Amino acid sequence: MFRLAAVVAAVTVMATAVVAQTDVVAERKSVMRESGKYFYGALPRMLRGEAPYDQATVDAAFTAFADSAKKIPGLYPESSKNAPRTSDYSASPKIWENKADFEAKVAAYGKSIEAARPKATSLDGLKEAHALVRAGCDSCHDSYRVRH
Ligand code: HEC
Repeated sequence: MFRLAAVVAAVTVMATAVVAQTDVVAERKSVMRESGKYFYGALPRMLRGEAPYDQATVDAAFTAFADSAKKIPGLYPESSKNAPRTSDYSASPKIWENKADFEAKVAAYGKSIEAARPKATSLDGLKEAHALVRAGCDSCHDSYRVRH
């Protein structure tokens, strides 16, 4: 009986760990997709002249980027290193081998958003702002995102 209780307790702990791991991966993917919706979708459509310049959408995009910069550091715990693959992209194990560099990239990304945001008040300004933010997304993806 005692042994059974111990097994049940151990299984519960394991199940909780798996759920926590899956949640954090789902959460960071949803943060990334929210940025991606603007960065790869709404903003390029304006830049290509396929949609009119819309300041409210631009502001919402920068709010999403700034929000992601705040959340990313807490969304990559060591426990999520070997999380099962759930989409075409996953986090490289190098993140946890070079945690200081990863964190430096998040900080640089945050700074690029702050520098870009005040420029994003016109179509011309948005061009420059979009390029600045791109450098932040790409420098992290190039090192730490794996495409399957
Ligand atoms: C500091 C690192 C970092 C920064 C900055 C970053 N990303 Fe990511 N991104 C990742 C990693 C790592 C993944 C792989 C998925 C994961 O982490 O589980 C990813 C995945 C994604 C995905 C795919 C999500 C999926 O469906 O699997 C999109 C879209 C994305 N990022 C967009 C962006 C955009 C747009 C920016 C900039 C505005 C950005 N990311 C900035 C690290 C970063």
